[in-house]
Amino acid sequence: MEISIRNICCIGAGYVGGPTMAVIADRCPNILVNVVDVNKERIDLWNSSNLDNLPIYEPGLDEIIKRCRDKNLFFSNDVEKFISSADMIFISVNTPTKKKGIGAGKASDLKWVEASARQVAAFATGHTIVVEKSTLPVRTAEVIKEILLSKKDFSDQENDSSTFDVLSNPEFLAEGTAIHDLENPDRVLIGGEDKDAIKALTNIYKNWVSPKKILETNIWSSELAKLTANAFLAQRVSSINSIGALCEATGADVREVAKAIGFDSRIGSKFLDAGPGFGGSCFKKDILNLVYLSEYFGLKEVADFWNSVVTFNTWHQHRISRLITKKLFGTLSGKKIVVLGFAFKSNTNDTRESAAIQICKNLIEEGAALFIHDPKVNHQQISRDLNLKPFSFIEKNEKEKIKNHGGYWDTISSTKNAFKDADAILVLTEWSEYKNIDWANASSQMRKPSWLFDSRSVIDPTKLENTDINFWRIGDGLKI
Ligand SMILES: NC(=O)c1ccc[n+]([C@@H]2O[C@H](COP(=O)([O-])OP(=O)(O)OC[C@H]3O[C@@H](n4cnc5c(N)ncnc54)[C@H](O)[C@@H]3O)[C@@H](O)[C@H]2O)c1
Repeated sequence: MEISIRNICCIGAGYVGGPTMAVIADRCPNILVNVVDVNKERIDLWNSSNLDNLPIYEPGLDEIIKRCRDKNLFFSNDVEKFISSADMIFISVNTPTKKKGIGAGKASDLKWVEASARQVAAFATGHTIVVEKSTLPVRTAEVIKEILLSKKDFSDQENDSSTFDVLSNPEFLAEGTAIHDLENPDRVLIGGEDKDAIKALTNIYKNWVSPKKILETNIWSSELAKLTANAFLAQRVSSINSIGALCEATGADVREVAKAIGFDSRIGSKFLDAGPGFGGSCFKKDILNLVYLSEYFGLKEVADFWNSVVTFNTWHQHRISRLITKKLFGTLSGKKIVVLGFAFKSNTNDTRESAAIQICKNLIEEGAALFIHDPKVNHQQISRDLNLKPFSFIEKNEKEKIKNHGGYWDTISSTKNAFKDADAILVLTEWSEYKNIDWANASSQMRKPSWLFDSRSVIDPTKLENTDINFWRIGDGLKI
C-alpha cells in the first residue's frame, strides 16, 4: 500500500532537526513540516524575525528559513499537537553519553529518546511512521517499538486504532557544511522492515536525491553504520594527529606526509588535516558508545581498539597546552595569550567537545590571561564551557586579586588592535578571517619574545617572514 506523507513532525529543533527539516521543507513544498522542542528559548530563536538570531549558525540556513518559515515550515513548543497531526515523526533529540548508572561515561543516555517515544505513543493518531534520526546504539529501534506497541496497554481510548512503523535514518551531515551535505548527501541510509514505510521515506528524499544514493539496509545495520562512520572519521583524525606529533619530533612535515599518503587511492586525501584534536558533539560520544557495545558483547579487544582513539585525542589536546607552556619558559603566570577561535570547527557556533575547551582550561590553570575571539561563539557559551565567568563580569574588588594571580579569560570582539602586549597568539579554529591578519602590525604590538601557535595550519608562514614572531604550527618538524 502506497503511503503518502503530507505532514511531518520532528521532535528536537537542534543542530540536526532544524537544518534537516528546513531542507525537507524547502525541497518538498507539498509537505507540512513542524519542528517541535521542549526548549522554549530555542524555538523563540528559530522564530525570531532577525535571522542573525537563529539558534544555529550554518552557511545558507538563513536563506532557507526565509523561504520556508511560516509557509510549510513551523517551529513550536506544542509537542503534543504536532505529534497528533503527523503521518511521519522524526526523533532528532540529543543522545549524550550517560553521566551515571550502568554504562556511565560510555553508553548513550537514551532518556530523551525514550521520552519522545512515550510522547509519540501517547499522542499519535492513525498510522504513523517513526523515524530515528538521532544517532542510537544498535537495537534501539526495538526499545522504541516496544514503547509504541505498549500504548494499547495504557490507552484510555477503547478503540485506539493507532499503528506504527519504525525506521532508522541516521544523519551524516557535518556541522559547518550541514546545508550543503543535506542538499547533496553522499548517501541516504534507511534501515527498516516494512517496505511501504521505507518507500514513503524514500519518496521524500527522491525529491532531490538520486535513487542510486538511497541505501536500504536492515535496521540494525543502519544504526551500526552511523556509529561506525563516526568512529572511522575520528580514528582518521587521531591517526594524522599521531603522525603530526612524530613529524614534530623527527623533522618531517605532516602536510607533506598527508599529501603523499592522500595520493594513494586506497587512503584518499580527505580528512587528513592535523589539528588540535577532534571535537563536536558526536565523535567522542559515538566511539564511547561503540566501546560500550563491544564490551557488552564480550569483545574486549574491539573495545580497547576504539577506546584508544579517544584517549589519544585527550592526550593530544593536553600535548598542545603543555607545549605552549614549555615554549613560554614553563610559566604562563601573568602572560597574555590571544586565542583565535573557540568553536570546534569553522562555520559553526557549536562548541560541544571543542578542543579549545580543554586547551583553554589548561592555559588558565597555568595562570595565563586569555583573550578569546570567535566570530560566532558568544561569551555566555564560553563561560558555560570553561565553567568560569569572564574577567569583565567579575566583581570589582575581586579583579585586582585575580589579575595578580593570573588565570582568567575574557572575550574580544575583533582581532583589530587585539595583540597589544600579547606574549602569544594561539589559533584553535580555522576561521578563514585569521588568514588575513596583518602579522607585521601584530608583531609590532606584541611583547618580545612573541609566539604564534597555529594548531590548524591556517597561517601562511611566508607572511611572518619579516616579523619578530616565533612560529609553531601543528606537525611541522622542519625547523628542529
Ligand atoms: N550535531 C551533529 O553534527 C550531528 C550529526 C549527525 C547526527 N547527530 C545526532 O543527532 C541527534 C541530535 O543531535 P543535535 O546535535 O541536533 O542535538 P541538540 O542537542 O542540538 O538538539 C536536540 C534537541 O532535542 C530537544 N529535546 C530533547 N528531548 C525532547 C523531547 N522529549 N521533546 C521535545 N524536544 C526534545 C532538546 O531540547 C534539543 O533542543 C543526536 O543523536 C546526535 O548524535 C548529530
